Amino acid sequence: MTTIAIPEGMPQYDDVPRFDVAAVRADFPILDREINGHRLVYLDSANTSHKPRQVLDVLAEHYAMHNANVSRSVHTLGTEATEAYEGARAKIAAFINAPSVDEVVFTKNSTEAINIVAYAFSNASLRPDADERFRLGPGDEIVISEMEHHSNIVPWQLLCERTGATLRWFPVTDQGRLDESGLEELVTERTKIVSLVHTSNILGTVNATARITERVRQVGALLLLDCSQSVPHMPMDVVDHDADFIVFTGHKMCAPTGIGVLWGRGELLAAMPPVLGGGSMIETVSMARSTFAAPPARFEAGTPPIAEAVALGAAVDYLSGIGMRAVQWHEKELTAYALDALATVPGLRIFGPNVPVGRGGTISFALGDVHPHDVGQVLDSLGVQVRVGHHCAKPVCTRFGVPAMTRASFYLYTTTEEIDALVAGLEQVRKVFD
Ligand code: ALA
Repeated sequence: MTTIAIPEGMPQYDDVPRFDVAAVRADFPILDREINGHRLVYLDSANTSHKPRQVLDVLAEHYAMHNANVSRSVHTLGTEATEAYEGARAKIAAFINAPSVDEVVFTKNSTEAINIVAYAFSNASLRPDADERFRLGPGDEIVISEMEHHSNIVPWQLLCERTGATLRWFPVTDQGRLDESGLEELVTERTKIVSLVHTSNILGTVNATARITERVRQVGALLLLDCSQSVPHMPMDVVDHDADFIVFTGHKMCAPTGIGVLWGRGELLAAMPPVLGGGSMIETVSMARSTFAAPPARFEAGTPPIAEAVALGAAVDYLSGIGMRAVQWHEKELTAYALDALATVPGLRIFGPNVPVGRGGTISFALGDVHPHDVGQVLDSLGVQVRVGHHCAKPVCTRFGVPAMTRASFYLYTTTEEIDALVAGLEQVRKVFD
């Protein structure tokens, strides 16, 4: 076992929950694959995770036995499908400790969830009677950070274009941490919303948000946390986090693609105007005007991704069965192991924190001058799957003066042997390009 410094207040080693990684791996059929004649080494879970048989079975079973549309049919199958869909919502609410099931809005992914909030702002800005907290105009400000992936940048840029508001951001330190030194000047009475990544998809940094939250409350702004890389990897309690909105996506946490979650405080969701119009989100419709359903239905226009939501519920059951504290510690140990192992590779530069504290199991790096695409290709030839490129976070690459990075990311099924395979692969890359 790799020894790492356990921050104060965290359980010590004796208390660390464990699970059987080999047994977990046996749940994921894809992990038996060979790639280019080598055993698959999948180190791209920050991009998308694999799915266990328990989730795949629920997805297939739903379509095979319970398929029907939800919230609109009185027949038996319709009732079964609706119960399964709403049952999944309840599971997810419990998983993140949401005070109410109605605070969980199903979306397509995190990107759509953030866009729903951004469009609620601009729709509110067109309505004089809308809640003041959502009305934006010239002189108002939105604050993000240089650490965001594009999904938490572009929607706010577009919102600024639509409303005349100004976009501002926290810089990133050389160590890959959020630079909060200018907090008081950055988050002010002009700020309407602060939208921050909780765990960086590229640097691995886990942002401690308490100081920022306090400032946000002081100035009367709202806080959105992009938890796409957090909810799959650590226990999540929306009450403890004290944010106003939290977004995450299913496909990074053992569920299918096409399903994500917007959690929002009940009274805020109730104050938000609708974004997409259509079936299921209305109260009444006449030819001249419509009135709208209460949340979450108000934000779920049209037929939703039913089977995907049900499968997300199964993923939550699966992860809860293992225990999110155990998943978090497994990844912490892998991260400590990987940081030590990568430090032995000559010419390797890690972007982001080089200690396993305040960071998750996503490690981006450069290998000398070798282009990340070349690194990725050689690793692929050895069965090692990493992501290369800008990781949908171009400003982070710009901040560190590189066009692209190579990234290895871990999950509950990752092993230290796979990290050894990565390090051996990198030695191979050095031989090819030296
Ligand atoms: N899916 C993207 C990633 O790989 C954002 O981090």
